[in-house]
Amino acid sequence: MTDTPAPFAPLDDLAVLRWYEVAGVDECVGETPVDRFAADAARAAAARAQPRDAPRPRTPPHPPPAVPRAAEGSAADPAAPAAAAARESAAAVAGRAETLDALRAALEAFDGCALKVTATTTVFGEGAADAALMVVGEAPGADEDRQGRPFCGVSGRLLDEMLASIGFDRSTAYITNVVPWRPPGNRKPTPAEVATCTPFIERHVALIAPRALLLVGGLAASTLIGTTEGITRLRGHWRTHRTPGDAPDVPAMPTFHPAYLLRNAEAKRLAWRDLLAVKARLAEG
Ligand code: URA
Repeated sequence: MTDTPAPFAPLDDLAVLRWYEVAGVDECVGETPVDRFAADAARAAAARAQPRDAPRPRTPPHPPPAVPRAAEGSAADPAAPAAAAARESAAAVAGRAETLDALRAALEAFDGCALKVTATTTVFGEGAADAALMVVGEAPGADEDRQGRPFCGVSGRLLDEMLASIGFDRSTAYITNVVPWRPPGNRKPTPAEVATCTPFIERHVALIAPRALLLVGGLAASTLIGTTEGITRLRGHWRTHRTPGDAPDVPAMPTFHPAYLLRNAEAKRLAWRDLLAVKARLAEG
């Protein structure tokens, strides 16, 4: 008899991955594995070797993860030129797309946004290409990333109900997001990531040319209306999305994101009013 554990069988590997997923570890943030236990053990050994009264070195608990940061950047940031170049290239390829299929292909071929590296799929959009109502959200979550469809998780179910309440469904409205790739761990997309993706969503709106936009959540509202005001102030008031190029400007109604409504049921009353305003506007013909 020996106590040596058997090597992992393929089935065990799958079980470990499933366990990671349940624990919320659902993306790879670096190409090379890091043995953090070894790093901790080395730090602990070094601390034990220090004379008791010696000043402690001020090292962070863990080295920062190796996350790709191609699209990060502020004026003083060395990555700023790369971020500006990514935006320019996005504007050039998006501007050349004359159809939804061409825009989808351009987005799938675009490598200027680091979010694409960690996402499983590019979540483009779905619905009627000639929809009168276009809904724009923030970014895909885990369900959307798995299925490649916008709003197909829990908040999507509420969005479906919201649309049904004003006579729309997924075959008559059009649904998409500002950012087509899931940010790792569902974090908020950074301003640089949003800026890189903006030419694509602007082109998306121009190609659908809806009669009204329903902007769910602060990020969709600020991106497509061009404001820094928060969603609580913006919601319920018609604004204008100014379409670049010669496509007509589009009336835009900002409202709460369904994920927010799921956590704040009392806000549903206000969202309901916003939806009725959209219905009335579209009924004007
Ligand atoms: N939240 C969003 O903003 N978009 C989705 O597609 C899903 C959740």
